[in-house]
Amino acid sequence: MTNTSQRVLIFDTTLRDGEQSPGATMSLPEKLEIALLLDEMNVDVIEAGFPIASEGDFESVSEIAKNTKNAIICGLARANINDIDRCWSAVKNAKASRIHTFIGTSPIHRKYQVRLNKKEVLEKIQMTVMHARDLCGDVQWSPMDATRTEGDFLCSVVETAIKSGATTINIPDTVGYTAPGESAKIIRMLKNRVPNIDQIVIATHCHNDLGMATANALAAVEAGARQIECTINGLGERAGNTALEEVVMAMKVRNDIYPFHSEINTKKLMSASRLVATVSGFPVQFNKAIVGKNAFAHESGIHQDGMLKHSGSFEIMSPEDIGLTDSNLVMGKHSGRAALRKKLEDLGYTIGDNKLKDLFVRFKELADRKKEIFDDDLIALISDSASNEAHDFIKLEKLEVVCGTESPQKAKLVLQIDNNVFQTTSKGDGPVDAVFKAVKELFPNDSRLQLYQVHAVTEGTDAQATVSVRLEENGKIATGQSSDTDTVVASAKAYINALNKLLLRREKKALG
Ligand code: KIV
Ligand code: ZN
Repeated sequence: MTNTSQRVLIFDTTLRDGEQSPGATMSLPEKLEIALLLDEMNVDVIEAGFPIASEGDFESVSEIAKNTKNAIICGLARANINDIDRCWSAVKNAKASRIHTFIGTSPIHRKYQVRLNKKEVLEKIQMTVMHARDLCGDVQWSPMDATRTEGDFLCSVVETAIKSGATTINIPDTVGYTAPGESAKIIRMLKNRVPNIDQIVIATHCHNDLGMATANALAAVEAGARQIECTINGLGERAGNTALEEVVMAMKVRNDIYPFHSEINTKKLMSASRLVATVSGFPVQFNKAIVGKNAFAHESGIHQDGMLKHSGSFEIMSPEDIGLTDSNLVMGKHSGRAALRKKLEDLGYTIGDNKLKDLFVRFKELADRKKEIFDDDLIALISDSASNEAHDFIKLEKLEVVCGTESPQKAKLVLQIDNNVFQTTSKGDGPVDAVFKAVKELFPNDSRLQLYQVHAVTEGTDAQATVSVRLEENGKIATGQSSDTDTVVASAKAYINALNKLLLRREKKALG
């Protein structure tokens, strides 16, 4: 870090904008787990959700507010009193709270979304920001679609928001339309023309529709923004948001040209990426910058030779910086509990005694079936949200399948449903189809399969398969995931896991 390096705040919106990705809906315990990790890795502001959106959103934001220790907890609210009041009720118990309110300001948003003229928009900003500020000392305001808003009007809305009490002004590139030069120009224009802009923090919020989100965010910072809004793995609406891991590492690795820094503990980046991928069911592309599986892999002979001679020849940052352990120490059936704990700690997981006990049993079971257990196997084991939990309504007891060239394929399935055991045999077009039909026969439901995805955790024919299943029922979406050396068993467990999650949502709806 250079001596003159300036601090940039990291505002993570994985749980709000990220969760808005179609299919990325997360449950309360999942959101809380992510929030605690973000808190632990020193994220400055966690945008925990949109409290007015649903009872579930409100509850999640409140729980996150009560349980986090360091970060400012922020909730989103549209430009109206009800939204803002609800948002405040959800965030007010945090150690530090923020209300984030917004309104569309571009011509197209004013005409079709907001249906207000410029004067009315200005009045609404004044009224809502003042109301938010009466409730909370920390108010963030965003002109939605800022990058397509007329320059003069953008200056006027920002000036009004500051006069009304906003403490952070966020400039969203809502549709991912801007480019780095323009992103910087907008920030410079605001800094030059808006009175008292030096009294507030300017934030940048970029979507990635043209693949320029990271570059646009960094350009805004060069021009004077001091808060970057981003998400883990770049999760977010459409093509996603600026990826947290990318901006943080860009400022760290190229501090010579970006003399800025964040307080993020970069060693947690890999665990955060894995957790968000598991929970959202959105796998990270192999060649994704920083956290992709291949980001530190060197395949070609020239590169491998260079790496052996000096790792700096082809590596601009070290894998340890982002929490990847150097050694892929192989574990096996003779490895003990202490070795497992140590290995998990090296991988960035802090595991309590009870969880370790359970993981150790599952580790031994896996070691009986698979000679060598690699890091990725352990991560899959830890991420296996589908291992039967005591409170699960539906549990897998036993599965046998008949598959091969002779069709139809068959599945004989035994499930425990609400502590009663049921059994059936179903036929299908392939073993997975037969299993899913058997589950539906034993537990009839209206859910629709939105995604079925399999990937091998490691190399070799004895590799575990990680299966993700996304189900939709009456607009509610749940993603289940499971890993097993038997792909069909992993598929059954992932499907049952998604069903259990849907059931929880049904229950919540009934209560609400
Ligand atoms: O992209 C956007 O404009 C947003 C706002 C709510 C800040 O997410
Ligand atoms: Zn957004």
